[in-house]
Amino acid sequence: MIARGELTVVGTGIRCGSDLGAAARRAILDADEVFFLAPGPLERSVFLALRPDATSLAGLYGAGVDREVTYAAMVERVLERVRAGARVCFAVPGHPGVYAQPTHDAVRRARAEGLAAMMLPALSAADHLYADLGVDPGESGSYSFDATDFVAYGRRADPSVALVLWQISVIGDLQNPVEVNRRGLAVLADILLETYPASHDVVVYEAARYALCDPVVEHCRLDALRHASVSPFATLYVPPATIAELVPERLVRLGLLSELPSSA
Ligand SMILES: C[S@@+](CC[C@H](N)C(=O)[O-])C[C@H]1O[C@@H](n2cnc3c(N)ncnc32)[C@H](O)[C@@H]1O
Repeated sequence: MIARGELTVVGTGIRCGSDLGAAARRAILDADEVFFLAPGPLERSVFLALRPDATSLAGLYGAGVDREVTYAAMVERVLERVRAGARVCFAVPGHPGVYAQPTHDAVRRARAEGLAAMMLPALSAADHLYADLGVDPGESGSYSFDATDFVAYGRRADPSVALVLWQISVIGDLQNPVEVNRRGLAVLADILLETYPASHDVVVYEAARYALCDPVVEHCRLDALRHASVSPFATLYVPPATIAELVPERLVRLGLLSELPSSA
């Protein structure tokens, strides 16, 4: 009988080692072949201790290469082994489905080709952010955007809603990043200043990647954001600046108010 390949996409979480869930670990150990991306050398070593024969895809991130080209090459490397009949695991940092294009592409392509493919959930940077900053996305609502998308598509922030912006170190950078794009950060800051006051306190956040380390929680005024120290792992948290107003007409529709207040 010809072996039927299958793909399992997993996330290793943010904190090295301890974020890896039981199901993802099992998938990594049980696969015939494993491909992985790790955010740094320590994470890479820890991953290889679990699966010494795993193949890193980091070499595909060539400087000056379009990210789309790199992602397509990753998907192709993974899928050619699935097509050949292997049970393949593709492991990436964080949650594999959160701000992670090649993982979704790999699952979609595999399924389109009639191959079995699944994605397991994992801890993302947002999960750490809510815990470390003590904020609940349900309290004021929460918008979440890739920072380049936020700028390029003219998305509008609502000052009464928390805003989480990802990939703030590479705003407007469509190639594999070499350094922080400060021009992009300045453009983002200018756009946010159209909605929030200059003195608004924002947070450049980096979840701790290693046990015993603290998260980086850098508060700064919005008008100083362009000069803030930003690592490739930084996410921006913009807390609400105003309180949302109740809409009496909707309260009536919900039965929470018997009638509209008479206007003064
Ligand atoms: C390509 S996305 C990957 C996100 C990942 N799949 C996840 O679930 O968190 C990379 C972005 O995730 C965020 N990120 C990754 N590691 C982080 C960390 N340690 N702390 C805060 N944000 C992080 C940053 O916004 C970074 O630019």
